Amino acid sequence: MNELYNEARNVLKNSYSQYSKFKVAAAIKLKNGKVITGVNVENASFGLTNCAERSALYTAYGMGYRKDDIAEIMVTTEQDSYISPCGACRQVMSELMPLDAKVHLGNNKGDIKTILNSDLLPFAFTEGDL
Ligand code: THU
Repeated sequence: MNELYNEARNVLKNSYSQYSKFKVAAAIKLKNGKVITGVNVENASFGLTNCAERSALYTAYGMGYRKDDIAEIMVTTEQDSYISPCGACRQVMSELMPLDAKVHLGNNKGDIKTILNSDLLPFAFTEGDL
């Protein structure tokens, strides 16, 4: 898990967050051991911002990986506190990652809080609701 934290910390500098000045990085560990990272990418049209979690997940899907290939995700910031994934990311994570996947929240000191994907969004909207 420390490896995943280090991988996320290594790309934190790539965060494109000149508006919020809030850098976020995510690192996904696949069941095959591969790590895929992502950062938040902002825009002058603020609503078009893409969070780090979704950047990493969309990259994984673009590479051809799917829900069952994903083992866990680490999300980290420069803050002392643990980041709480936003509502949009919770919705996307509930569909694109296994519900029993671990979600690690790492602060700037290297402390890590681990929860489950299923803890993040009870009563999620799913394809079954369509
Ligand atoms: N952000 C993330 O990347 N992930 C989250 O879970 C919460 C928020 C980003 C979006 C925006 O670029 C900045 O943090 C401030 O909201």
